[in-house]
Amino acid sequence: MEDDRILRPELDGFSEEKLETSLRPRFLSEYIGQSKVKENMKIYIEAAKKRNEPLDHVLLYGPPGLGKTTLANIISNEMNSNIKITSGPAIEKAGDLAALLTNLQEFDVLFIDEIHRLNKNVEEILYPALEDFTLDIIIGKGPTAKSIRIDLPKFTLIGATTKAGTLSTPLRDRFGIVDRLELYNVEDLSFIVKRSAKILGIGIDNESAIEIARRSRGTPRIANRLLKRVRDYAAVLGDGDIDLKVTKTALNRLEIDEMGLDEIDRKLLDVMISKYAGRPVGIDTLATTIGEEVETLEDVYEPYLIQIGFISRTIRGRIPLPAAYEHLGYPVQQSL
Ligand code: ADE
Repeated sequence: MEDDRILRPELDGFSEEKLETSLRPRFLSEYIGQSKVKENMKIYIEAAKKRNEPLDHVLLYGPPGLGKTTLANIISNEMNSNIKITSGPAIEKAGDLAALLTNLQEFDVLFIDEIHRLNKNVEEILYPALEDFTLDIIIGKGPTAKSIRIDLPKFTLIGATTKAGTLSTPLRDRFGIVDRLELYNVEDLSFIVKRSAKILGIGIDNESAIEIARRSRGTPRIANRLLKRVRDYAAVLGDGDIDLKVTKTALNRLEIDEMGLDEIDRKLLDVMISKYAGRPVGIDTLATTIGEEVETLEDVYEPYLIQIGFISRTIRGRIPLPAAYEHLGYPVQQSL
């Protein structure tokens, strides 16, 4: 479904990936937004370089599409090092991780996306690797088993996760730098849209960039995707340049509303308001009711709805807030 691909680009094809890569900033100076993270990172990188040491291990967390992979690439560029990219679920056995680690070179960056999905056995190999740059391998089984220790090159692990809360404490504690990426504001997103348009050779005016930004749920990946879709409409319906009229036509046809909500957001809110009458509802119940995965609701939909003040998470469940009633055209209920 169209909307699904906008919110969850992993469902999309290869060309999208290539496009995204070409739009990614390569250095901190080109990276828009996340000023706190950026400023701190600049200091840590400079200090590490001065000491001629690798950067301390970094944990980046926050909703998908905010630039965790981009930032990892930038860090390795700024450190003049190589980056190896993998993900938690891709590392199945302890041996897979051992192979990755022993192939690293001094100062390399190892990027593990979805690090919360590493399995326990693999995670345990990682502890001494992170702490002392050593690898403890057990060879054989039973009474004849032998443990050998291998020294590893000094490297930087960058872990990315949408769920810092589900990371085990021993793993979390081994990151010297822990940064949360926040949803972007409209101004920063509009700068990103204009920067991307320039790279893609598309003409776009300020209002259109702001309109796309406003409907991108605080997420650069969505902003870039919407830009590309609007470009298609501009090419077919207009002269190729993007103006506000073509932008609104395109976004309305994509059924992305003024707040950036899609069909699933609206369905979610509607169910909370009409079916459950605004009472607290558990995330499992909501997921079952609208036929989505709990994880998708938690990672993709909820953060933005919470950010714009449409829903709130309480100990008894999720509740819709007055702004959600208004947006969907329901009379506003007094909150419980
Ligand atoms: N493209 C995606 N994220 C970006 C960012 N934070 N800055 C500039 N371009 C981007």
